[in-house]
Amino acid sequence: MDGATNGTGERSPEGSNTYTSIKQGTYALKRDFNASTRLTAQHYLWKDVLKFELHPSISIGPDSHIADVATGNGIWLLDLMQNLPSTIKLDGFDISLDQCPPDAWLPDNVNMHTWDLFEEPPARFVGVFDVVHIRLITVAVRNNDPRPILANLHRLLKPGGYIQWDEADSVDWSVRSVHHSVDTQAVERLFQQLCGTHDWKRNMVQILNSSGFHGSLTHRVEYGRSMARFWSDMYMSTWEEFAKVVLKNPEESHMLGVNAMEQVRDGSAINCAKLVWVAQKV
Ligand SMILES: C[S@@+](CC[C@H](N)C(=O)[O-])C[C@H]1O[C@@H](n2cnc3c(N)ncnc32)[C@H](O)[C@@H]1O
Repeated sequence: MDGATNGTGERSPEGSNTYTSIKQGTYALKRDFNASTRLTAQHYLWKDVLKFELHPSISIGPDSHIADVATGNGIWLLDLMQNLPSTIKLDGFDISLDQCPPDAWLPDNVNMHTWDLFEEPPARFVGVFDVVHIRLITVAVRNNDPRPILANLHRLLKPGGYIQWDEADSVDWSVRSVHHSVDTQAVERLFQQLCGTHDWKRNMVQILNSSGFHGSLTHRVEYGRSMARFWSDMYMSTWEEFAKVVLKNPEESHMLGVNAMEQVRDGSAINCAKLVWVAQKV
């Protein structure tokens, strides 16, 4: 029996304010081997639940040029590359390339570049891409408004080029449990701290359509119960990084983590759908 799907209704106001303490220019997570391992595991969980890397509505050809912005350790780009002809050019961008493989080990058709997505893109990358992909940049979105980021992604694309933006649904999530008697409060509080307030995800289709894109669609997928524990562990690991870098309340975070882990072992898990938005540049 499934219990305690708490939805978005009863969140503590304390939990929704965790992002206000992030100083502008500070990245809310880490870039060490644990952070990179988490990105790698997360990539394969995403691939498992979506069953695609590029949304099936996106058409590419042998001369396509694909960008992955905020590429992290480059896992999305390098995995995608393996099933594409080597004539397709792929460029990864991130404010830091600390997590990427060394340039010398990248295939000839893959390049990585340092770029802050809040700055205008370098001229040589303006209007050259058929596809621009971005995933899991929620922690960097400022003032609950993705439009400054969208404007720069729009600049990278050719007319008619596709944007694909993937995020966890940090607005409409729940905590699932095996039975109503299982306490899930700590898990819920922990995940609320990580989610913050990102209502923009509710309006993304309208935002895209008013930002120089058309044909915008949302693809929403939920993982099943058998995969929920794996996703939950990954989110708790992300939260632990976030708590260390942003919350800086080690004793309270430690206790919350211990209690949440106990509740996970009792049979609860974070239930958080994946969102993929696709649109074409006008
Ligand atoms: C959660 S990771 C996601 C990585 C990758 N997209 C993935 O799905 O595996 C977020 C990435 O955004 C990058 N990032 C944060 N702020 C950025 C900025 N202003 N410009 C470019 N990249 C940024 C971080 O360096 C980090 O690599």
